[in-house]
Amino acid sequence: MKGNYDTDHIRSLVRPDSVHRDVYLDPVLFELELKRIFARAWNYLCHESQLPGSGDYLTADIAGNPVIAIRGEDNLIRTLHNRCAHRGAKVLGNGQGNAKVLACSYHGWSYRTDGALLSIPCRDNYRGTEVDENPAGYGLTGIRTDSYRGFIFANLDADAPDLTDYLGGAWRALDNMVDRSPDGELQPVKSSFRALYRNNWKIYLENLHDGMHPLNVHQSSIAASREQLSRIDKTSGKTPALALQLVQANAQGYRQMEELEVTCYGYGHSDMRGFRNPDNDADPAYREYVSRHRKSYGKEKSAQILNTNLHNVNFYPNASAHPRFLQMRVIRPVSVDRTAIEINVFRWKGAPDEINQRNIVYANTIHSPSSLIKPDDLEAYRRVQEGLLSTGQEWISQHSLFGPDTDDAAPQSALSEQYIRNQYRSWLAYMCNPGSTGDG
Ligand code: FES
Ligand SMILES: [Fe+2]
Repeated sequence: MKGNYDTDHIRSLVRPDSVHRDVYLDPVLFELELKRIFARAWNYLCHESQLPGSGDYLTADIAGNPVIAIRGEDNLIRTLHNRCAHRGAKVLGNGQGNAKVLACSYHGWSYRTDGALLSIPCRDNYRGTEVDENPAGYGLTGIRTDSYRGFIFANLDADAPDLTDYLGGAWRALDNMVDRSPDGELQPVKSSFRALYRNNWKIYLENLHDGMHPLNVHQSSIAASREQLSRIDKTSGKTPALALQLVQANAQGYRQMEELEVTCYGYGHSDMRGFRNPDNDADPAYREYVSRHRKSYGKEKSAQILNTNLHNVNFYPNASAHPRFLQMRVIRPVSVDRTAIEINVFRWKGAPDEINQRNIVYANTIHSPSSLIKPDDLEAYRRVQEGLLSTGQEWISQHSLFGPDTDDAAPQSALSEQYIRNQYRSWLAYMCNPGSTGDG
C-alpha cells in the first residue's frame, strides 16, 4: 500500500474503526508526521520551575529540530533554534545547565540569552557583508512559545491556534497538578527517566488509557503482590507498603475498568479517571497535607481539587501527564520504530515531604525502565511493532465500544478504543493538510 502520500492515499489508511499497518512502519510516512503533526502542534518542553534562574536552559527536539528553552535576563522563557547562524553547529550540547552567554564551540560566535547575536571573533573580516549590515538576522532564531500554569510549550507553526484553544478541556489536568500544591507552586525532582522505546510513538500514546491490558500484561507483578499481601496479618492493622498497593491496583478486573471514564477532547487529547488512590484519612502525613491545603484554598475548593483524581492525560502528540502522581512525560519520535520518552517528576511546594515522596515511589514502582511494571509494557509495545511486520493482516482493529465518535461524544470507559479513534481523527486532520511549515 506504500507509495506517494497524496491526500487520498493518506485518507485511505484510516477507517473509522481501524487503521492500516503502514502508519506504524513506513519511514516516509514518519517523516511526513514530523512535518505535518509535530511541526504544527504545541510541543511541551518543560515546567518553568525547571528553569528558575536567568540563563537556565534545557535542550529538546521539536520535529527533528534541535531547540533550546532558556530563561532570559528579562525573566522570560524563550525557545530558540539550537543552530549557530555561522556554519550551523548546535550551539549547546544536549542537556541542561546555565549559560549567561550562548557561545558556539566551533568558531566562537556568541549570542545573548534572548538569541540576539552578541559577538563574532575577527569581526572586521565581515565588514561590508550582510552579517555586518544586518546582525539582527544572525541571531538564534526564536520559536513561538507560550505557557499554561507554568507548563511551557513551543510551536514551529505561526498559523497554529493559541495554546489555550489547542489544550481545550485537557487543561484541567494541568490546573489540578498545580492546585494540589498548598503553595500553588511546583518544584522539580532533579533527575528524570530517559529511555529509548522500540516502538512507533503512537503505540505509546495508545496504551495510556488502555484498561484492557493491565490484567494481562502485568500478570507477573500482580501475582507477586497478591502473594505479598496475603502474608500481611489482616488483624495487625498494618497498611501495606505503597509500592505494593500501586502494583496491586493493576489487578482490577474489566468490570472495574469499565467504570473509569475516559474523556476525549479536540486535537487528539484525552484524559482518564484515576484508579489508584493512596490517600488515607488515618494517615498523619495526609491529614497534615489536607490541613495545609485547606488553609490555602478553603474547605470546599480544597475538597474539589483533591477529589479530582486523574490518571494519564494525553496531550497529543508529544506529552502525557499524571496529575495525581505529578509526572510529565515528553514523547520524542526518533524514527518509525524508535521513540524516546523522558519522564519528569515534581513536588508540591508546601506539602509534607512524605506526601511528595510518594510521587517518587510511584515513578520508581511503575515508570522506571527497571521497575516491575514498565518492562511489561515495553515488551507489549515491541511485540506490536514487530507483529505489524506480518503481512497476514493489513488492518489494526480499534473496534472496542465503537461510535458514535464525534468531537462532542460522551466520555466512554477505559475498555473503549474511542480515545485512539479520537487520536486518529486528529492525525488525519494534520496529515491531510500540508499547512505552512514547509513540507512541500
Ligand atoms: S558554526 Fe558556530 S561559530 Fe562557526
Ligand atoms: Fe501497563
